Amino acid sequence: MLKIGVLVSGGGTNLQAIIDSIESGYIKNAEIATVISSKKDAYAIKRAEKHGINNVCIIKKDYQNKNEFFNAIENHLDSFGVELIILAGFMTVLSAEFTQKYKNKIINIHPSLIPSFCGNGYYGLKVHEEVIKRGVKVTGATVHFVNEETDGGPIILQKRVMEQAEWKIFPEAVKLISENKITVENNKVRRIL
Ligand code: GRF
Repeated sequence: MLKIGVLVSGGGTNLQAIIDSIESGYIKNAEIATVISSKKDAYAIKRAEKHGINNVCIIKKDYQNKNEFFNAIENHLDSFGVELIILAGFMTVLSAEFTQKYKNKIINIHPSLIPSFCGNGYYGLKVHEEVIKRGVKVTGATVHFVNEETDGGPIILQKRVMEQAEWKIFPEAVKLISENKITVENNKVRRIL
């Protein structure tokens, strides 16, 4: 059973999609060990509670610096034996030390077809706003591994058309990883059939 830790900051619709996919049996080999929120009032925490999933708030301003904040997150994840970290609307850019420690063990969902609308400053809501403002015709979502470059890690899955795309490919990526059907070679994802 792959132990997952989910990092959230907001509404948690992507967290919900993963919870539902585990409860329905679509994802069979994984369980959510803990949910960490960087915001006290995140609705994602309520979703975890409703499903009896361990949850905790780890807030940046309670720590002296970013390093100590990430240490607290690491300690919590490690104490739960987390093997896959899922960023589901987590609003803090991870430190290089953190991404290196969990190399190829962190995945993120990004609301665009990377390489469009990505990099520093293009967090969730901002991307949605830009896509509407610029009248972009073709958009979608990307699930990718996380490395030290913002939105720069190997791409696992992409899907065009935003509507509910995230809630389909995020659980699909977790399913593939939990079934050992994904490897990363030369910074590229390879599907094992
Ligand atoms: C999503 O748009 C996701 O792509 C981005 O942040 C948003 C999180 O939404 N990274 P939710 O909290 O999962 O509802």
